[in-house]
Amino acid sequence: MKNINLSNIKILISEEEIQKRITQIADKINKDYQGEEVCAICVLRGSVMFYTDLVRQLTMPITMEFIRLSSYGHSTSTSGKVNAVDIKLPDLTDKNVLIVEDIVDTGITAKFLLDYISMNFKTKSTKFVSLLDKKIARCTDVEPDYYCFEIDDKFVVGYGLDYDNHFRNLKYIGYADKSILQ
Ligand code: IMP
Repeated sequence: MKNINLSNIKILISEEEIQKRITQIADKINKDYQGEEVCAICVLRGSVMFYTDLVRQLTMPITMEFIRLSSYGHSTSTSGKVNAVDIKLPDLTDKNVLIVEDIVDTGITAKFLLDYISMNFKTKSTKFVSLLDKKIARCTDVEPDYYCFEIDDKFVVGYGLDYDNHFRNLKYIGYADKSILQ
């Protein structure tokens, strides 16, 4: 593991900002799905904090599903390949599916999941919401239907996001200087 520790992580988005923005996004989702039931899919492990905070603010009937994908391993850049560690899902035919992601970076993971769902199920609708959108790194044509914050080309940790499976429990989103990550 590279030399990242709490003392060289800077706060990018505070706990207060995260919670305030989640309330705004949840309000929008509540309006868009009025009178509908939603199957909310948590993409583990990175979206765990965002997912649990978001679904508690959703007011429509919700079913909760959890899948686990990975693409980073021990590095700070994607391998470009998505490893479907656990992608068992019930029949999503005629369901409103809302995928909950931590971050859309290249978009490879989101594209993999959207393709997987469209190939396997005829859903009523499929949308995805991401906590973070790193648009500058995108190499696919996927765009989240909802996102909380756009960030520039930083490697971020905290609030579910990790570096080598560490720092997920921070209440804020932080980043380490690029020089530390070299
Ligand atoms: P993508 O496939 O390149 O869009 O990346 C998606 C996955 O890579 C995310 O779900 C994260 O788990 C991970 N990831 C991408 N950028 C970061 C980052 O800055 N910090 C931590 N994990 C990241």
